[in-house]
Amino acid sequence: MAVGNEFDLFMENIYKYTNIDLKKYKRPQMERRLTALRDKQGFQDFKPYFEALQKDQNLFHEFLDRMTINVSEFFRNPNRWEVVEQRLVPEVLKKNKKIKVWSAACSTGEEPYTIAMILNQYLPFSEIKVLASDIDDGAIARAKKGVYHQRSLQFVPPAYVSKYFKPLDNQQYAISEDVKKCVTFKKHNLLEEPFESDFDLIVCRNVIIYFTEQAKDLLYTKFSNALKPGGVLFVGSTEQIFSPQSFRFATYDTFFYQRQ
Ligand SMILES: C[S@@+](CC[C@H](N)C(=O)[O-])C[C@H]1O[C@@H](n2cnc3c(N)ncnc32)[C@H](O)[C@@H]1O
Repeated sequence: MAVGNEFDLFMENIYKYTNIDLKKYKRPQMERRLTALRDKQGFQDFKPYFEALQKDQNLFHEFLDRMTINVSEFFRNPNRWEVVEQRLVPEVLKKNKKIKVWSAACSTGEEPYTIAMILNQYLPFSEIKVLASDIDDGAIARAKKGVYHQRSLQFVPPAYVSKYFKPLDNQQYAISEDVKKCVTFKKHNLLEEPFESDFDLIVCRNVIIYFTEQAKDLLYTKFSNALKPGGVLFVGSTEQIFSPQSFRFATYDTFFYQRQ
């Protein structure tokens, strides 16, 4: 079978097996990444690789790990988080006592914990609730553990490091239990499952870039519907929306879009 068709069949099999639709991700990068992984495991085509994935959980988790790309860090692009801390949160809290926030595609937890730390500048822990979701349960398990290498703390303000982290051995840091309790993690596929509604802020960063144009458009529409009027979508620093008005968004700040 020609290589292209073989990958098509693999995508169909993966969809039936996991409900993850690889066709909604940009093909060249995805095919390249997964072909390299398949080759590394010694399979010459995708059919036997898929059969092996079904039987071997380690192989399956390695596949999931490679297709999802879990790279994250606290306060990723720090000057964008200043907009959240200094403008957005105070504006919401002027109107309401509570703020409903979702970190969509939260990976290993750095992003929702960043949000919880920022909210704690204005609210006691008992009033902070952040929803955090990801397709990858391995990433969620690591998020719930809340232990990070010093590397991922490079942009955390020093005062926050001392307040919200406990140093462990080997340059590892544990996030405080108080911050952890603010975040509810759940497994969720953005491309297939329904969304909750009435959010003041949805943070979805560094995942939309992997999706096809069609999948992106559908996602922006779903995000727009999930926000309150006046609510804001915060995207990654390579993920500018080119015609925000088609999704009832106006630009709030660079990489922030406000639902009209
Ligand atoms: C590069 S990480 C981004 C983490 C964090 N948002 C940040 O910006 O640092 C991308 C995450 O998207 C998740 N992901 C990929 N496809 C997804 C989907 N269809 N639904 C939900 N999460 C998905 C991956 O599992 C991965 O954890």
